[in-house]
Amino acid sequence: DQSNLAYSVGVTLDRFIKLKQSDFPFASGELSQLLRDIALAAKIVNRETNRAGLANIGGAFGQTNIQGEEQQKLDVIANIRFMRALSKGGEVCAIVSEEEDAVIDLQNNSGKYVVAIDPLDGSSNIDVNISIGTIFSIYRRKTPIGSPITAEDIMQPGNQQVAAGYVLYGSSTMLVYTTGFGVNGFTYENSLGEFFLSHPDIQAPKNGTIYSINEGLEMEWSSGIKSYVFSCKEKRFQSRYIGSLVADFHRNLLKGGIYLYPATSKNPSGKLRLLYEANALAFLIEQAGGKASDGKQRILDIQPESLHQRTPLFIGSQNMVDDAEQMIQCFESEI
Ligand code: AHG
Ligand code: MN
Ligand code: MN
Ligand code: MN
Repeated sequence: DQSNLAYSVGVTLDRFIKLKQSDFPFASGELSQLLRDIALAAKIVNRETNRAGLANIGGAFGQTNIQGEEQQKLDVIANIRFMRALSKGGEVCAIVSEEEDAVIDLQNNSGKYVVAIDPLDGSSNIDVNISIGTIFSIYRRKTPIGSPITAEDIMQPGNQQVAAGYVLYGSSTMLVYTTGFGVNGFTYENSLGEFFLSHPDIQAPKNGTIYSINEGLEMEWSSGIKSYVFSCKEKRFQSRYIGSLVADFHRNLLKGGIYLYPATSKNPSGKLRLLYEANALAFLIEQAGGKASDGKQRILDIQPESLHQRTPLFIGSQNMVDDAEQMIQCFESEI
């Protein structure tokens, strides 16, 4: 049958998207086109990333974004590339981005979809040639097509995502996405300019032996986090932390592990952004059989209240996230 065909060798992303359109019997093909637009922008950002050291596009841009972070040149370039791809395609009515202060209303009232994006994840790793990424979430607008967009279209909980994914610009470039029917990964073949299916139907191991957390902030962790990380050490787990969420997530997804970004005194709600980072990865991990929590509840059920809202994030292998959650709650009830 057609979907088995998709798992044979040499299947390009385009062909896969087309085959998978049958998952949506009444689909008009707009979501498929949108995914193709994202893949094209990813190829362009991949090109920029690869030559950043030569093209004088490394280093700081000289401005601070709304998150209070110093923007890198590649943050700005990646943002422009994705904005262009998403606005030219015609399927999108609004975009929210880590690098934009406010909602970008494309004034395209016939567009069905809203996109939330972290155009370049892992900025601090650009200039040292370490893996970076892009993270995206796609929502269907809530207001009727033809009407102006409203906050209701933008402030949707993650459980409303129709698709989500990431691009990893790593030792090879990969695009991993879900439309709610499992998770599939594609590897970029540079010389052909195509993404090929390389990781069909990714399953997150239920258990793992990797924990990923910025250990330099230990003094700022709650007792629950301290105990959980201590329990990882008692079990002689491996500590792995790249500092690019996409790369840390991807490794743990394939190998089994947990990524933690808890609340700290500098960032009382954690550092990662609900709309641009946590939601997409939460959708992917659940689709792969893993789990994503803010310590108390499912990430996907959080009702966003502001655009750049941050959230603590505990994500990865199901049993590891369960254990972390239990430890956090156990200490919280003592206080
Ligand atoms: P971004 O580069 O999009 O701003 O994201 C940075 C994030 C994430 O990629 C990473 O996991 C985390 O920041 C690292 O933070 P610390 O340096 O505080 O560990
Ligand atoms: Mn940033
Ligand atoms: Mn990021
Ligand atoms: Mn970013």
